[in-house]
Amino acid sequence: MVPWSENRIKWYDRAVKYCGYDDALIKAVGGYLPKDETVCDLGCGTGYLARKLAEIGYSVTAFDKSGITLENLRRIKEEQGLKSLTVTEGSWYDLPEKPLWDNVIMVMAGMLDVDMELFLTLAAKRLIIITKDDDRSHVQANGVSVMKHPEFEQMKKLLQGCDYDTFNLTIQFGQPFLSKEEAKEYFRVFEADTESADSKLNLLEQRDGEYPWYLPNEKNMRVFAVRKKP
Ligand SMILES: C[S@@+](CC[C@H](N)C(=O)[O-])C[C@H]1O[C@@H](n2cnc3c(N)ncnc32)[C@H](O)[C@@H]1O
Repeated sequence: MVPWSENRIKWYDRAVKYCGYDDALIKAVGGYLPKDETVCDLGCGTGYLARKLAEIGYSVTAFDKSGITLENLRRIKEEQGLKSLTVTEGSWYDLPEKPLWDNVIMVMAGMLDVDMELFLTLAAKRLIIITKDDDRSHVQANGVSVMKHPEFEQMKKLLQGCDYDTFNLTIQFGQPFLSKEEAKEYFRVFEADTESADSKLNLLEQRDGEYPWYLPNEKNMRVFAVRKKP
């Protein structure tokens, strides 16, 4: 994964807001998260989901090992007075292996094939996993490399014996840009290796409004909502 940086956080949070990615995720999985139960967004990245959950009334922990994203999230928490949001920096490998939250949600996070048992242990009631679900699992349409997620069949094996729902989820989650120059910088940061940054500019669509350029990206995902046995 390309390490988090100020630019990456800025682009990511802008894309979340522009596409309503946070709302779309909550619409898809909110039914599994009772409002009076605790939630941990494990491997929260910029914390966009934890933040939105706190805004709509959840008591939520944003957990990640990335100091730079959490520093930004703490600032937003203070600005917005999000009292029900707890921001915790650390590695999940250092957590006590017991249920720490009612619900744990992981979006594109974790080595599921290696650490599924740990993630299942950390949730008292439900573990909601959202993975990528398409055969472009290691290279996005824009040529950006992303981590490989377990295939559906492998996930089914990993969750054997568990009680869970699973379904596909497709959300338009592209990247808006202020200018073509900014888009070039984006391609450079992500080290697109298949073509040069310049040639990638033809992937951009023109839009009205604050962000005149948009890199489309249909994100095909799969949700696994695992219920822990009482
Ligand atoms: C691909 S990003 C996904 C971020 C976010 N959930 C999202 O939807 O954008 C994976 C995140 O997991 C975090 N991470 C990886 N290993 C971790 C660990 N051992 N403990 C805590 N966080 C970890 C990374 O820092 C990164 O922010």
